[in-house]
Amino acid sequence: MTDDIAARLRALQAADLPVHGGRTLAYVYDSGLAEVDEVARRAVASFAGSNGLDPTAFPSLLTMENDLVAAAARLLDAPDTVVGSVTSGGTESVLLAVQGARDAHLATHPDVRPAMVLPDTAHAAFHKAAHYFGVEAVLVPTSADFRADLDATARALDELGERVALVVGSAPSYAHGVVDPITDLAALAAERGIRCHVDACIGGWVLPYAARVGREVPPWTFAVEGVTSISVDLHKYAYAPKGTSVLLHRTAALRRPQFFASAAWPGYTMLNSTMQSTRSGGPLAGAWAAVQSIGDTGYELLTREVFEAVDAIVAGTTDIPGLHVVAPPDSTLIALATDDSCDPFTVCDEMAARGWYVQPQLSHGAHPATIHLSVSAATRPHVPDLLTALAEATRAAQDAGPVAVDAGVAAYVGALDPTTLTDDDFDGLLAAAGLVGDTPGDDGGLALPTRMAEVNALLDLASPALREAVLVSFLDRLQRPTGWPA
Ligand SMILES: Cc1ncc(COP(=O)(O)O)c(C=O)c1O
Repeated sequence: MTDDIAARLRALQAADLPVHGGRTLAYVYDSGLAEVDEVARRAVASFAGSNGLDPTAFPSLLTMENDLVAAAARLLDAPDTVVGSVTSGGTESVLLAVQGARDAHLATHPDVRPAMVLPDTAHAAFHKAAHYFGVEAVLVPTSADFRADLDATARALDELGERVALVVGSAPSYAHGVVDPITDLAALAAERGIRCHVDACIGGWVLPYAARVGREVPPWTFAVEGVTSISVDLHKYAYAPKGTSVLLHRTAALRRPQFFASAAWPGYTMLNSTMQSTRSGGPLAGAWAAVQSIGDTGYELLTREVFEAVDAIVAGTTDIPGLHVVAPPDSTLIALATDDSCDPFTVCDEMAARGWYVQPQLSHGAHPATIHLSVSAATRPHVPDLLTALAEATRAAQDAGPVAVDAGVAAYVGALDPTTLTDDDFDGLLAAAGLVGDTPGDDGGLALPTRMAEVNALLDLASPALREAVLVSFLDRLQRPTGWPA
């Protein structure tokens, strides 16, 4: 890389959230181990051009994939019959779990539209799967403790009858950080001969070590009878570079519908175990290197560290007036809520002003708006600073008072129809919310404020369907060709 290109890349990266340092509490997972990151980075670079399309052409990739699946299987109490694949991330693992369940179901019920039953806290990746694969997502409200409601799940299963292809639980859920009652969910599924997927994308590589270091962990692995598949991301709590997750199935027969082969053209026979066809060996090698170099002892240590941080944040929050933990965390995710004296969105902005990224979560149905923290091992030494920042940010949010949406803007939003939202409507919304660039000569492009509380408060007023429509318009506006450097 020439110095010039490296400098330009660094300049581009300057506006990004920091990946290291333990102060970014969503999107990234930081072990704090610089030497592990370096080994993994080199592995990514060495295998960036290798192609997982054909395991016979790049046998190294097959070996690394089978090694990672074996490591995941050991961690998740899998029987000898287990098989698995490495995918590009949690969403792909979830997509494949749903696709496999759908295709198995269609094989025996060709005339029935398949459905899956999931708690309303399940990750949005399941909604994407429903959308892609024509499976109806039947959401069951969660109990007061944010966990799947078993009676409501049983009722939904009985009502849907033979339509159900899959039951889903999370270990833990992203939004509230609690583990669903997997033993009971899996039993409900098994009694009816239905597959049960545990989405442990975010907790799967840390909860087993939490149990090993003596923490109370609700059962959720293959040790639970009736669990047929589990997703666990390597690019989260295995602290691997971005781009890998593992999807495990209890038996090879359960995985079979996941495979795709096509000889229906004159080129090579396409043969895939995941959604991608050509896939870079980089992320796989990076994950292999990270898992090898951290090792069981390293993960136990990192798990002790991350839970020290979680416990200290939970305990410290009780001393911050106006802020509380929504549910005692089962894993490494914490959801915080505010009382009426302030709003969570302003707290997030105030945290950003103090160098901390915490993630706003909009209200949804019975679930209040909250602040999400994915805690990493690297956060532990900074917990006292984090708690000081949280206390200051909450006080500043209280001084500012709950963010108010202008009545005219609220009325404008209230009148928008998500099913017919046009570019003009979106422009009107941007103008009403003061989000249009006003630099002379500019083309009315987006001018996002550094403080997002008003935008989040506005979105919070909108229905989920309108949020989706507005944000799709937003992304459409963001993704436009710009001046490619000459
Ligand atoms: C529980 C759960 N499932 C699925 C996903 C999707 O993972 P990814 O963003 O890697 O696609 C996430 C991401 O946070 C998650 O927390």
